[in-house]
Amino acid sequence: MSVRSSHVVWHHATVTRADRERLYRHRAAVVWFTGLSGAGKSTLAHAVEERLHALGAHTFVLDGDNVRHGLCRDLGFSEADRVENIRRVGEVAKLFLDAGIITLAAFISPFRKDRAWVRSLMPTGDFLEIYCQCPLSVCEQRDVKGLYRKARTGEIAHYTGITSPYEAPENPELTVNTAELSLEQCVDAVMQLLVARKIVLA
Ligand code: ADX
Repeated sequence: MSVRSSHVVWHHATVTRADRERLYRHRAAVVWFTGLSGAGKSTLAHAVEERLHALGAHTFVLDGDNVRHGLCRDLGFSEADRVENIRRVGEVAKLFLDAGIITLAAFISPFRKDRAWVRSLMPTGDFLEIYCQCPLSVCEQRDVKGLYRKARTGEIAHYTGITSPYEAPENPELTVNTAELSLEQCVDAVMQLLVARKIVLA
């Protein structure tokens, strides 16, 4: 998207991302959890954050349910609104990257092209896509928030997996099957990825 006004000029920071990463003793990254509602994205993002925090890392969780109470409170779940939701969150994640933070982003983000767009905002290697894979039947059985039931009775429209599509990643950095693995095993897998990519030290 282009800048609407031609009279805005970028101001370069004197404290750079590299300066911050040196101070924090870890690299910044955007760890993006995608998957159906109820697949465990938020639970996993927060559990990974706890692990990273215990190591002394600077982290933050961006979560769909929370962001939609503030920054994205004006957005619903039509295709256009979801695109805008992910666009805003992508831009925020990019700011956090420059702030030297390891961001854990948990959004259904159902469309491949939107996730690819967020990836394209960041330098190569800084965006790690984690697919929280879980059969719809399991998510629906869990129905933690009771929203699948409402989607089935037509009380909620455009519900992902029921009346709105979900496009699974074709080439994620990592897939975790949250129906088969324990939370600890999923956290371990994400931590291994972060170590392998030299975001944090082992
Ligand atoms: S996204 O599609 O735009 O990425 P996001 O992750 O922000 O979605 O929000 C998803 C959360 O909103 C779900 O976990 C669920 O609690 C709630 N929600 C409410 N209505 C819907 C809907 N129609 N489809 C999916 N999730 C919904």
